[in-house]
This record gives sequence, C-alpha cells and structure tokens, in this order.
Amino acid sequence: MRIGLVGVGRIGASHAQVVRDHPEVTELVLADADAARAAKVAADLGVRAVETPEQAYENVDAVVIAAATAAHAELLIAAARRGLPAFCEKPVAPDIAGTVRVLDEVRRAGIPNQIGFQRRFDAGYAAAREAVRTGKIGGLRRAHLVTADAEPPPPGYIPTSGGIFRDCHVHDFDILRWVTGREVVEVYAIGAARGAPEFAESGDVDQSAALLTLDDDTVVTLQGSRYNGAGYDVRMEVAGTEGTYAVGLDDHTALVSTEPDVTFPAGEPFREFWSRFLPAYQAEINAFVDVAAGTRPSACTVADALESFYIAEAATRSRVEHRPVRIEEVRIG
Ligand SMILES: NC(=O)c1ccc[n+]([C@@H]2O[C@H](COP(=O)([O-])OP(=O)(O)OC[C@H]3O[C@@H](n4cnc5c(N)ncnc54)[C@H](O)[C@@H]3O)[C@@H](O)[C@H]2O)c1
Repeated sequence: MRIGLVGVGRIGASHAQVVRDHPEVTELVLADADAARAAKVAADLGVRAVETPEQAYENVDAVVIAAATAAHAELLIAAARRGLPAFCEKPVAPDIAGTVRVLDEVRRAGIPNQIGFQRRFDAGYAAAREAVRTGKIGGLRRAHLVTADAEPPPPGYIPTSGGIFRDCHVHDFDILRWVTGREVVEVYAIGAARGAPEFAESGDVDQSAALLTLDDDTVVTLQGSRYNGAGYDVRMEVAGTEGTYAVGLDDHTALVSTEPDVTFPAGEPFREFWSRFLPAYQAEINAFVDVAAGTRPSACTVADALESFYIAEAATRSRVEHRPVRIEEVRIG
C-alpha cells in the first residue's frame, strides 16, 4: 500500500515512523505546508518528500492527515473527492459547521475514513468497555476522567487549538461514549487560565473541570490541565453497582500515595502522549491500513467525531457562559 502523509509536526512525524514500519506499506511520501520540514523528516526516516500537500495525494492508495487542525476539513474533503481512504487526526474541523460539511462530503463519496481517537485502541480502555458491556461492573452509575498534560503545547499552538475542551478533552468525550455506550445529555464546565498569557489572550483555560450527565442518569466528572507537574496523567474510572474499574492506574501513574508503606507506583510517570499511547497509535495505524484495504470497518468515523465534538462545543459554551448546556442546544439538524 502506498501512503501519502500530510503534516509532519509533533504528531505527524511520529505517525510517519509507524506508517513507514507497517509491513504492508510499500511506499510513504511526506508533505507539509513547510516543505523544508517535510524534507527534513523524510531524510530522517529514509522516505520521500514532495513539495506540496497536493502532490502527496498523487499515485497513492490512502492518505494520513496530521496537519494543523485548521487544514483537516479541506484535506479530508480533497481525499474523499479523489476516492482516497483517509486517516485524519482529531478534530475533523475547528467548528461544528465544518465537521458537518465534512460528514456530508465523505458520506456522499462513500470512501472510508478513520479519525485519530487512539484511546479506542488502548488495552485499558478496551477492558473498561468490556467490563461495562458484559455487566462485570454491574449497572453503570458513575465515571471519572482525567487528561492532564505535563507541559503545555508550544505558545503558537494555543490560539489555533480551539481551546482545551475541543483540543484535549474531546478525547475524553469520545472515550466516554465508547466505553459506556451512552450519550451525554448535559455538561457544566469550568476552568482557569493560570499559565502562559496565550491561554487567557485566546479565551482559553489551562485548568479545567466539568460535570456531565449521561442519558441513563450516570453522573460523570472530568478534570484537565495543561500544566501537571506530576507528569502526563490520563485516566478513567467506571463505577457500577458491582465494581469499579480504573484505566491508566499502573506503575507510570502520575500520583503519589500518602499511605504509609505504600510504594505504588514504582515506575516513572510518562511526560507526553506519544510514549503513553504508543501501542494504541500503532494499533490505530494498523487498523487504518485494513480499513483502507477494505478488509475491516472503521472503528472511529467522522460521524463519531462529530458526536464528541458536540460535547466539546457544549462544554466550551458552558464555561464561557457559566451555565449547564444541553447537547441538543449545540446540535445541528
Ligand atoms: N491524537 C493525539 O493524541 C494528538 C496529539 C497531538 C496532536 N494531535 C492533533 O494533530 C494535529 C497536529 O498537531 P501537532 O501537535 O503535530 O501540531 P504541529 O503544530 O506540531 O504540526 C502541524 C504541522 O502541520 C503543518 N501544516 C499546517 N497547515 C498545513 C496545511 N494546510 N497543509 C499541510 N501541512 C500543514 C505545519 O507546518 C506543521 O508542520 C492537530 O490537529 C492536533 O489536534 C493529536
């Protein structure tokens, strides 16, 4: 399979290595709006770079889109119109209208796509989903999610990110739906900007929390940070009438127990997303190669991404307007 990959920044360069190493990938071409960056990453990986993103769509069987968020929609639509299966990093577009437009286009084209919610390929989240689905936890009653970055993204990224709920917690919203099999009906979100001035200047926050209600009255809490001194901390708990399961609780967990004689966790915390989720990133690319070959359905479509984006939109509006927001309030159509 020949793959064109567009966008070789923080995550694109890492995805490129995974794509290059896939046994069924015979050719990988890289492109970026910054052609010099594409050339440098291509040289490092021993693959070919092309001058423009358009050229990365020529003579390939599928594309991987890891460019900046603002470019996703046009790149996904261009792939659909050319009949090219596409993997695209989240989010699909910076806003709901743009996401709906992409959904219309890819549905019309009937070309498969997969959006980069890698937690769906993480063993811990998959086990939590299984525990909920099979009833091992009993009836689901509560969930708790944490996504805390050890360090903030580069200052230039912050104004383009769409804010912490659309950029970061959209992963929590996606995995909440996937693990519980339920839909969010209402969210109340708060936050504070206590770090770099770029957060406040772009109307964003670097500390976040939210309360969410699911359609079966399950109650959910969420916390996040762009500055978690303890390390990169991504966890989820699902609590039911028979038991509570925890994702992300291992020897790398960025927590210190205050109990006497407790040595857990024994290892070092992760510092960033790539090392924490490497097996999941590899599994999602493996899955996409099968999706592109037509041998398995997509595990995360644009339609799925739209649902989690509605929750992120409602959370953003809730924080700004200091009130609970129902998901139906932001839904289009
Ligand atoms: N799934 C995850 O865990 C995860 C983690 C980090 C980032 N992301 C997503 O990946 C995307 C990229 O994030 P990043 O941190 O790598 O950003 P980045 O700023 O490091 O890299 C973005 C790259 O895209 C290039 N670019 C911008 N516009 C382009 C265009 N029109 N055509 C081609 N290239 C273009 C830039 O030159 C840059 O090289 C974002 O949408 C982000 O939401 C996902």
